[in-house]
Amino acid sequence: LFLHDPASDELWSCATQGPGDSKITLRLPVKQSLTGRVFRTHQPLCVKDSLTEEEFFLTAVVVNGFLPRSMLMAPVLKSPGQCIGVVQVLDQQVNAFDADDLALLEAIATQVAITLDNARLYEAQKRQFASFVRAFSAALDARDPLTAIHSINVANYAMGIGYFLGLASEELEWLRMAGLLHDVGKIGVREGVLTKPGQLSDEEMNQMRQHASYSFRILSQIEFTDEYRGMDHVAAAHHERLDGSGYPRGLSDGQISFKARILAVADVFDAMTQDRHYRKGMSMEQALAEVDRMTPHQLDGDCVVALKRFLGRGG
Ligand SMILES: [Fe+2]
Repeated sequence: LFLHDPASDELWSCATQGPGDSKITLRLPVKQSLTGRVFRTHQPLCVKDSLTEEEFFLTAVVVNGFLPRSMLMAPVLKSPGQCIGVVQVLDQQVNAFDADDLALLEAIATQVAITLDNARLYEAQKRQFASFVRAFSAALDARDPLTAIHSINVANYAMGIGYFLGLASEELEWLRMAGLLHDVGKIGVREGVLTKPGQLSDEEMNQMRQHASYSFRILSQIEFTDEYRGMDHVAAAHHERLDGSGYPRGLSDGQISFKARILAVADVFDAMTQDRHYRKGMSMEQALAEVDRMTPHQLDGDCVVALKRFLGRGG
């Protein structure tokens, strides 16, 4: 499958399969190749013997060591007038394809066009979601730069824990987003409390603790796709503890999801190691000792082991 690169006006091999080195990306000039002719004319082409064709682009053969004699090519049309690439099938024998093969390849090219368009829409949707997350982070950053750094750290620690727990890459991406968003509720905490340089009073501490509920209220407004569903609940639960001593709901062991446990360990560890408006951060060793002290009654033991492995502290 060749796709058009408008910047260089070349067709580049997006996906290849078969003999020869399929890892090499071929680039064919639109103006001087048979593939380019199909792209320019929007017409399919069945070549009986490439060596008799003037436009046959030999450089491609030299690069991947495969000499195609028969070539079957069909344009990938996004709309009737818009060609985005060419799908082609090659054979080392002359006269290997007939009209039926060409008709079949044209049908495949139609499917390729639909699939590529769906993939493009899906990617655009993902980028849009990622940009929403960045916008939330920027809003939080504007209120309290320390919290913004904390969110990035929690995202990284949560992914590291997830990695050492053997989670799939989609789950790690989920954790990254959750880490970035978990404290978004701090937008709702009064600035005088959020950035107070000294110890918080009991009343101020209560206000600060509201941020977990605010995170839920804000994130539950988002219509998450299946991929990110449940992020509002997990974000709301990052201060819950297994023994029920956490907040805002005082959930305990069986009520706290796996991902919320990961986020809790990532959050508490980073919170200890970072400077706050009212205190200096602990060293990594001090923070890990403190995390150990909270495990297993408050923090999930498996998540703590995974954090230590991520930090290179422990087997
Ligand atoms: Fe928090």
